[in-house]
Amino acid sequence: MKILVTRKLPKEMIKPLYEIPDSTVVMFDQEEIPMPKKDLLKEIRNADGILANLTDDLNREVLKEAKQLKVISTMAVGYDNIDMEEAEKRGIKVGHTPYVLTEATADLTFALLLSVSRNLPQAASIVKNNQWKSWSPFSYTGHQVHGATIGIIGMGRIGLSVARRAKGFSMKVLYHNRSRHIESENEVGAIYCEDIDTLLAQSDYVVLLVPGSKQTTHMFGEEQFKKMKNKAYFINTSRGTNVDEQALFHALKEGEIKGAGLDVFESEPIQGDHPLLELDNVLALPHIGSASIETRTEMAELTVTNLKNGLTGKPLVYEVQY
Ligand code: DGY
Repeated sequence: MKILVTRKLPKEMIKPLYEIPDSTVVMFDQEEIPMPKKDLLKEIRNADGILANLTDDLNREVLKEAKQLKVISTMAVGYDNIDMEEAEKRGIKVGHTPYVLTEATADLTFALLLSVSRNLPQAASIVKNNQWKSWSPFSYTGHQVHGATIGIIGMGRIGLSVARRAKGFSMKVLYHNRSRHIESENEVGAIYCEDIDTLLAQSDYVVLLVPGSKQTTHMFGEEQFKKMKNKAYFINTSRGTNVDEQALFHALKEGEIKGAGLDVFESEPIQGDHPLLELDNVLALPHIGSASIETRTEMAELTVTNLKNGLTGKPLVYEVQY
């Protein structure tokens, strides 16, 4: 049985895979970069299981090559990099890592919100660059988070965890979701906005937390940014493909919105000459929502267990349902 691991992980962490009888583990030898497409295509051909990452494009073309593949275990909650139709057609089980990254991602979402509203990157760079002249009455003043209104789009597990943090800051919590989320209404007093425009018009912070999919691609564009307050901030820790970046650039440049905190981009890694990165009112991070050592360790362990279970006839801990 051949197992392909597309990113270098500590040997100790993937030990359970070596313990599968008659298994051969082939692991890519680098941690910083994804396995090149040509190597992935070659290695997946006779693989029975694959421990993948969100950077592996497991599209139809790739899956068609994977004649023996029985299990894909991705070290992520999102699986928009996998052609699920093709996987279903081929009877491939797909495992992922929900729950374990909820709190880390909510922390990072809130950190972005606080950082953009209080100009932390600009203020920190002044100190580091030895440009701090004096305490001053209005330099680097941002906006108050306490008591402001947050609008959460996508009230899933992470949405609720962000709402809990917002409650701690006495924020008014609005949310938009496919359906009402009674738990968040009862627990944090979140107010349901069936119409997304109501949320956009009233929120000081708009936080996008919907999974990436064909249906959500560019769900945020010119129209949505125009409906936001000019003093509002846009935070995205979901998927970059959910946002039309040209429209976002325009909205930020023209002052239609005040600023943005972005952990995800339409194409990752975002290139250094991307127009969004020229703007002072953008704080951009390299997709680190779940990047606490505790969470990433749990994600890796869960990914290994999902894969081992799938390859040894046991139910996956978390299997994506078609
Ligand atoms: C995910 O899991 O989908 C995140 O984007 C990375 O942790």
